[in-house]
Amino acid sequence: MSEQLDHAFWENRYRTTTTAHVQPNPHLTVEAAKLPPGRALDAGCGEGAEAVWLAAHGWRVTAVDFATTALDRARERADIRGPEVADRIDWRTEDLTEWIPPENSFDLVCSHYAHPATGAETLLRRLAPAVATGGTLLIVGHHPSDAHSAAHASGVHATAEGLAAELDPVRWEILVAENRSRTVTHGSHQIELRDAVLVARKNR
Ligand SMILES: C[S@@+](CC[C@H](N)C(=O)[O-])C[C@H]1O[C@@H](n2cnc3c(N)ncnc32)[C@H](O)[C@@H]1O
Repeated sequence: MSEQLDHAFWENRYRTTTTAHVQPNPHLTVEAAKLPPGRALDAGCGEGAEAVWLAAHGWRVTAVDFATTALDRARERADIRGPEVADRIDWRTEDLTEWIPPENSFDLVCSHYAHPATGAETLLRRLAPAVATGGTLLIVGHHPSDAHSAAHASGVHATAEGLAAELDPVRWEILVAENRSRTVTHGSHQIELRDAVLVARKNR
């Protein structure tokens, strides 16, 4: 039977597993490097690798997660980098199935494998209004063919086409809608990941 990836699951996961080695998501670092720094929202930020990377590159970041254990570690990660990074990040404890981000407020809204219980498409619909006109939405999810997440409930999966279909083509320009494979090193072994990647710009 697949696991329930609820709040208790994530708190327990962070209490029992260290992911301090985690590097910022490469889809984010590539896409954000093309943008002038502004205001960013990272939804489901976990231990903060992406939020810290963004802050270190000049962004003001709102980083949201419901796992306080993860947020505590994320704050530590930012503090190590000093106030010029740490002071740029607002860490918020919120449930992404309930929290409504402020509309038209961020130049970049990103989310990497957050997959709340309500699914990636519902999360996208909740996050899209938070992107300011001219701003960018980046969603990275686990593709259904991703072996690493295969044991999880189907709700954790997404396809680039499915995510793109959620956006009104009159208002959004799809810049990337691709299902991509990549290899990551976990300790002494390598894992093949299959990601659904959506990058879109809000035109109005
Ligand atoms: C697979 S981890 C990804 C963490 C980070 N984005 C990364 O790429 O390393 C999923 C994260 O989403 C968070 N999450 C899942 N459901 C959530 C919800 N309903 N509200 C807020 N955060 C949630 C979890 O606590 C966890 O930190």
